[in-house]
Amino acid sequence: MSQEHTPQPPATISLQCIRCGCTYPTDVVRYLCDCGGLLDVWHDLEALRPQLSRGLFDGRLSGAPGPRVAPTTNSGVWRYRELILPATADTIVSRPEGNTPLYEHSRLSRWVGVETLFLKHEGENPTGSFKDRGMTVGVTQAKLMNAQAVACASTGNTSASLAAYAALAGIPALIFIPAGKVAAGKLAQALAYGAHTLQIQGDFDDAMSLVRQVCDQMGVYLLNSLNPFRLEGQKSIVLEILQGFSWQPPDWIVLPAGNLGNTAAFGKALYEAQQLGLVEKIPRIAAVQAAGASPFYQSYQTNFAERITLKPSTIATAIRIGKPVSYERAIRTLGWTNGVVTSVTDQEIMDAKAMVDNVGIGCEPASAAAVAGARKLIAEGVIMPQETIVGILTGNLLKDPAATVDYHTGVWPEAQFANPPVQLEPTMEAVRQVIEAKL
Ligand code: F0G
Repeated sequence: MSQEHTPQPPATISLQCIRCGCTYPTDVVRYLCDCGGLLDVWHDLEALRPQLSRGLFDGRLSGAPGPRVAPTTNSGVWRYRELILPATADTIVSRPEGNTPLYEHSRLSRWVGVETLFLKHEGENPTGSFKDRGMTVGVTQAKLMNAQAVACASTGNTSASLAAYAALAGIPALIFIPAGKVAAGKLAQALAYGAHTLQIQGDFDDAMSLVRQVCDQMGVYLLNSLNPFRLEGQKSIVLEILQGFSWQPPDWIVLPAGNLGNTAAFGKALYEAQQLGLVEKIPRIAAVQAAGASPFYQSYQTNFAERITLKPSTIATAIRIGKPVSYERAIRTLGWTNGVVTSVTDQEIMDAKAMVDNVGIGCEPASAAAVAGARKLIAEGVIMPQETIVGILTGNLLKDPAATVDYHTGVWPEAQFANPPVQLEPTMEAVRQVIEAKL
């Protein structure tokens, strides 16, 4: 059970508009300010400063594994609960999440062009993506709000995660997904976990606009990253990285960017960690979009004078988004972290994925955008080879088997690292010929 005996004073949280600063209580359902601005979960950092320390979080790492361990002890999200949502162990809906590995592999680092590239594998969360970190918090909050049903629009991973956590909590889940554009592994999860699955004849942005109307008009609790509690959970990716580096941060964190929830959450986590004195300096954020779904990158190129939206198209279906919800929050992240934005082609994404897969780590296409983006920024001299970089692998290799099989079986004529299967007669002689040719 929890190893802590220090009583926790009640923490102060509220919802705060990132545009006009208006605040609202957290016990009333609300996703936007009256002015239309996005909301943050606001923590009283002044009150938290004397309570929080590196030692407090490091001490919680020693929680024993095993059955019936409180989620507040062994979840990679809830060990930072004062900075996320001060929920108690009996209300938390958790599998648990996080504590994901930081991989490094010399062949991959060399290919990317740096001394050491670390990869934080968020695909090793319970449902195979980083979404579980936000969803444990979102569904816990849904339970605290006594939600009768929960919903999201999704390119696949959010819906897989929501389906699982809603099932755990015993709350019905409604998911809105673009028909024919969700990878097989993700669709299978949503169906298997029992979510009511609505396939929309449209893209993610259409599904998103529909689910917002449904939630507003039908009293269903919305669990997209428009919901600020989701982002609080996703902050724990960064907090875990800082802690994993003994609070001596890397120079860069490079991540794939679609709806911009993670880009938003990472900036907030870094800002708060610095304000609290947990770290002296913070890493720069590099957000990477797929070239065919790069509204944020294109807006960045106008210095955000213009907000560009578009009809998206990319092999990386997870980030096939033309009108990202957390746009304003993500701009704030760039300001806080001196961040940059770039874009990579589908060919670059798939070749980077093949490299990540081939060294034995593996990821889904959208995740590989982080690696392709890091490689591009190094080639351009934005990131220096001796700098420390952490790339975020957001989803598991098995999420999208079709994209992987296509790459290796000739659908991508320019595939640099294709490993096609060999067809042969069932004879020893045929096998011998293949082995002699290959080894
Ligand atoms: N990588 C993967 C594997 C994702 O599933 C997503 C988003 C992203 C990156 C982009 O993250 O939206 O925070 O910028 N997937 C959402 C979904 C949109 O519905 O599963 P973001």
